[in-house]
Amino acid sequence: MIKGSAIYPGSFDPPTNGHLDLIQRGSKIFEELVVAILRNSEKSPTFSVAERLEMLRTLTADMKNVRIDMFDGLMVEYAKSIDATCILRGIRAISDYEYELQMALMNRKLEPTLETVFMMPADKYSYVSSRLVREVAQAGGPVKGLVPEVVEEKLREKMDPAYKLRDARMIDAPARSEKKRKKKS
Ligand code: PNS
Repeated sequence: MIKGSAIYPGSFDPPTNGHLDLIQRGSKIFEELVVAILRNSEKSPTFSVAERLEMLRTLTADMKNVRIDMFDGLMVEYAKSIDATCILRGIRAISDYEYELQMALMNRKLEPTLETVFMMPADKYSYVSSRLVREVAQAGGPVKGLVPEVVEEKLREKMDPAYKLRDARMIDAPARSEKKRKKKS
Protein backbone atom coordinates (compact mmCIF):
# COMPACT_ATOMS: atom_id res chain seq x y z
CA MET A 1 0.00 0.00 0.00
CA ILE A 2 1.47 3.37 -1.06
CA LYS A 3 1.21 5.99 1.69
CA GLY A 4 -0.59 9.28 1.01
CA SER A 5 -3.18 10.31 -1.56
CA ALA A 6 -3.45 9.68 -5.26
CA ILE A 7 -5.81 11.53 -7.56
CA TYR A 8 -7.77 9.83 -10.32
CA PRO A 9 -8.93 12.74 -12.53
CA GLY A 10 -11.39 12.56 -15.39
CA SER A 11 -14.65 13.70 -16.91
CA PHE A 12 -16.63 10.57 -15.95
CA ASP A 13 -19.54 11.57 -18.23
CA PRO A 14 -20.78 8.98 -17.40
CA PRO A 15 -18.75 6.71 -15.12
CA THR A 16 -18.24 3.33 -16.83
CA ASN A 17 -17.40 -0.16 -15.59
CA GLY A 18 -13.85 0.53 -16.79
CA HIS A 19 -13.61 3.55 -14.46
CA LEU A 20 -15.00 1.53 -11.58
CA ASP A 21 -12.54 -1.29 -12.25
CA LEU A 22 -9.67 1.20 -12.13
CA ILE A 23 -10.98 2.80 -8.91
CA GLN A 24 -11.10 -0.66 -7.31
CA ARG A 25 -7.55 -1.45 -8.42
CA GLY A 26 -6.26 1.98 -7.37
CA SER A 27 -7.91 1.78 -3.95
CA LYS A 28 -5.93 -1.39 -3.29
CA ILE A 29 -2.55 0.20 -3.84
CA PHE A 30 -3.01 3.76 -2.56
CA GLU A 31 -3.75 4.70 1.03
CA GLU A 32 -6.32 7.22 -0.22
CA LEU A 33 -7.73 7.62 -3.73
CA VAL A 34 -9.47 10.87 -4.66
CA VAL A 35 -11.62 10.55 -7.77
CA ALA A 36 -11.70 14.11 -9.13
CA ILE A 37 -14.30 15.20 -11.67
CA LEU A 38 -13.29 18.01 -14.00
CA ARG A 39 -15.92 20.74 -14.08
CA ASN A 40 -16.68 22.37 -17.45
CA SER A 41 -14.80 19.78 -19.51
CA GLU A 42 -17.53 20.00 -22.15
CA LYS A 43 -19.98 22.80 -22.86
CA SER A 44 -23.01 20.51 -22.80
CA PRO A 45 -22.23 17.37 -20.80
CA THR A 46 -24.78 14.56 -20.63
CA PHE A 47 -24.66 14.54 -16.84
CA SER A 48 -24.17 17.57 -14.61
CA VAL A 49 -21.20 17.52 -12.25
CA ALA A 50 -23.64 17.07 -9.35
CA GLU A 51 -25.14 13.98 -11.04
CA ARG A 52 -21.69 12.49 -11.73
CA LEU A 53 -20.64 13.21 -8.15
CA GLU A 54 -23.74 11.45 -6.83
CA MET A 55 -23.32 8.41 -9.11
CA LEU A 56 -19.64 8.01 -8.22
CA ARG A 57 -20.38 8.41 -4.50
CA THR A 58 -23.03 5.68 -4.71
CA LEU A 59 -20.69 3.39 -6.64
CA THR A 60 -17.83 3.76 -4.19
CA ALA A 61 -19.85 3.90 -0.96
CA ASP A 62 -18.26 0.67 0.30
CA MET A 63 -14.69 1.70 -0.53
CA LYS A 64 -13.54 3.37 2.64
CA ASN A 65 -10.35 4.93 1.24
CA VAL A 66 -12.03 6.43 -1.85
CA ARG A 67 -13.26 10.02 -1.88
CA ILE A 68 -15.10 11.81 -4.70
CA ASP A 69 -14.46 15.48 -5.40
CA MET A 70 -14.48 17.94 -8.30
CA PHE A 71 -12.01 20.48 -9.56
CA ASP A 72 -11.58 23.44 -11.90
CA GLY A 73 -8.53 24.65 -13.75
CA LEU A 74 -5.20 22.85 -13.72
CA MET A 75 -5.32 19.33 -12.36
CA VAL A 76 -1.83 19.53 -10.87
CA GLU A 77 -2.85 22.57 -8.84
CA TYR A 78 -5.84 20.76 -7.45
CA ALA A 79 -3.63 17.70 -6.73
CA LYS A 80 -1.19 19.89 -4.82
CA SER A 81 -4.00 21.55 -2.88
CA ILE A 82 -5.02 18.19 -1.46
CA ASP A 83 -1.40 17.02 -0.98
CA ALA A 84 -1.70 14.19 -3.49
CA THR A 85 1.60 12.69 -4.59
CA CYS A 86 0.41 10.56 -7.53
CA ILE A 87 -1.92 10.86 -10.50
CA LEU A 88 -3.64 7.64 -11.47
CA ARG A 89 -4.68 7.13 -15.11
CA GLY A 90 -5.96 4.12 -16.99
CA ILE A 91 -4.56 2.80 -20.25
CA ARG A 92 -6.95 0.51 -22.12
CA ALA A 93 -5.09 0.01 -25.35
CA ILE A 94 -2.04 1.28 -27.21
CA SER A 95 -4.25 3.97 -28.77
CA ASP A 96 -4.56 5.63 -25.34
CA TYR A 97 -0.81 5.72 -24.87
CA GLU A 98 0.14 8.73 -26.97
CA TYR A 99 -2.36 11.08 -25.37
CA GLU A 100 -1.64 9.76 -21.88
CA LEU A 101 2.12 10.11 -22.38
CA GLN A 102 1.71 13.72 -23.55
CA MET A 103 -0.53 14.52 -20.62
CA ALA A 104 1.79 12.84 -18.09
CA LEU A 105 4.82 14.72 -19.43
CA MET A 106 2.98 18.04 -19.48
CA ASN A 107 1.81 17.47 -15.92
CA ARG A 108 5.40 16.61 -14.94
CA LYS A 109 6.58 19.86 -16.53
CA LEU A 110 3.93 21.77 -14.59
CA GLU A 111 4.62 19.97 -11.32
CA PRO A 112 7.73 17.74 -11.22
CA THR A 113 6.94 16.31 -7.77
CA LEU A 114 3.74 14.62 -8.97
CA GLU A 115 4.20 11.14 -10.40
CA THR A 116 1.75 9.64 -12.93
CA VAL A 117 0.95 5.97 -12.40
CA PHE A 118 -0.78 3.95 -15.14
CA MET A 119 -2.95 0.94 -14.53
CA MET A 120 -4.80 -1.31 -16.97
CA PRO A 121 -8.49 -2.03 -16.44
CA ALA A 122 -9.74 -5.60 -17.01
CA ASP A 123 -9.43 -6.51 -20.70
CA LYS A 124 -13.22 -6.99 -20.96
CA TYR A 125 -13.49 -3.19 -20.61
CA SER A 126 -10.70 -2.36 -23.06
CA TYR A 127 -13.15 -0.96 -25.63
CA VAL A 128 -15.46 0.82 -23.18
CA SER A 129 -15.37 4.62 -23.13
CA SER A 130 -17.78 7.26 -21.86
CA ARG A 131 -18.00 8.70 -25.38
CA LEU A 132 -19.09 5.41 -26.95
CA VAL A 133 -21.49 4.68 -24.09
CA ARG A 134 -23.11 8.09 -24.66
CA GLU A 135 -23.31 7.44 -28.39
CA VAL A 136 -24.98 4.04 -27.94
CA ALA A 137 -27.42 5.40 -25.32
CA GLN A 138 -28.26 8.46 -27.43
CA ALA A 139 -29.40 6.08 -30.17
CA GLY A 140 -31.45 4.09 -27.65
CA GLY A 141 -29.04 1.12 -27.69
CA PRO A 142 -28.24 -1.28 -24.83
CA VAL A 143 -25.46 -0.30 -22.41
CA LYS A 144 -25.86 -3.23 -20.02
CA GLY A 145 -22.49 -4.53 -18.86
CA LEU A 146 -20.71 -1.37 -20.00
CA VAL A 147 -21.78 0.81 -17.10
CA PRO A 148 -22.90 0.08 -13.54
CA GLU A 149 -26.66 -0.46 -13.09
CA VAL A 150 -27.23 2.90 -11.41
CA VAL A 151 -25.64 4.64 -14.41
CA GLU A 152 -27.67 2.50 -16.82
CA GLU A 153 -30.88 3.63 -15.09
CA LYS A 154 -29.84 7.30 -15.19
CA LEU A 155 -28.97 6.98 -18.89
CA ARG A 156 -32.38 5.45 -19.57
CA GLU A 157 -34.07 8.35 -17.77
CA LYS A 158 -31.98 10.92 -19.68
CA MET A 159 -32.36 9.27 -23.06
CA ASP A 160 -35.98 8.22 -22.59
CA PRO A 161 -37.17 9.54 -26.01
CA ALA A 162 -34.35 7.64 -27.78
CA TYR A 163 -35.23 4.37 -26.02
CA LYS A 164 -38.96 4.87 -26.73
CA LEU A 165 -38.22 5.52 -30.39
CA ARG A 166 -36.05 2.40 -30.60
CA ASP A 167 -38.71 0.29 -28.84
CA ALA A 168 -41.33 1.60 -31.27
CA ARG A 169 -39.08 0.75 -34.22
CA MET A 170 -38.60 -2.79 -32.87
CA ILE A 171 -42.36 -3.26 -32.47
CA ASP A 172 -42.92 -1.89 -35.97
CA ALA A 173 -40.17 -4.02 -37.53
CA PRO A 174 -42.20 -7.26 -38.08
CA ALA A 175 -45.07 -5.27 -39.64
CA ARG A 176 -42.64 -3.46 -41.93
CA SER A 177 -40.91 -6.65 -43.09
CA GLU A 178 -44.32 -8.29 -43.71
CA LYS A 179 -45.28 -5.30 -45.86
CA LYS A 180 -41.98 -5.63 -47.79
CA ARG A 181 -42.54 -9.37 -48.26
CA LYS A 182 -46.03 -8.82 -49.65
CA LYS A 183 -44.77 -6.08 -51.99
CA LYS A 184 -42.13 -8.45 -53.40
CA SER A 185 -44.52 -11.35 -53.98
O1 PNS B 1 -11.80 11.75 -18.75
P1 PNS B 1 -10.73 12.45 -19.52
O2 PNS B 1 -11.34 13.39 -20.52
O3 PNS B 1 -9.76 11.49 -20.13
O4 PNS B 1 -9.92 13.34 -18.46
C1 PNS B 1 -9.00 14.31 -18.88
C2 PNS B 1 -8.54 15.17 -17.69
C3 PNS B 1 -9.72 15.75 -16.95
C4 PNS B 1 -7.72 14.33 -16.75
C5 PNS B 1 -7.64 16.32 -18.26
O5 PNS B 1 -8.29 16.93 -19.32
C6 PNS B 1 -7.28 17.37 -17.22
O6 PNS B 1 -6.55 17.09 -16.30
N1 PNS B 1 -7.85 18.58 -17.37
C7 PNS B 1 -7.65 19.65 -16.46
C8 PNS B 1 -6.85 20.78 -17.08
C9 PNS B 1 -5.37 20.45 -17.05
O7 PNS B 1 -4.76 20.32 -16.03
N2 PNS B 1 -4.81 20.34 -18.26
C10 PNS B 1 -3.43 19.97 -18.46
C11 PNS B 1 -3.29 18.46 -18.56
S1 PNS B 1 -2.01 18.07 -19.62
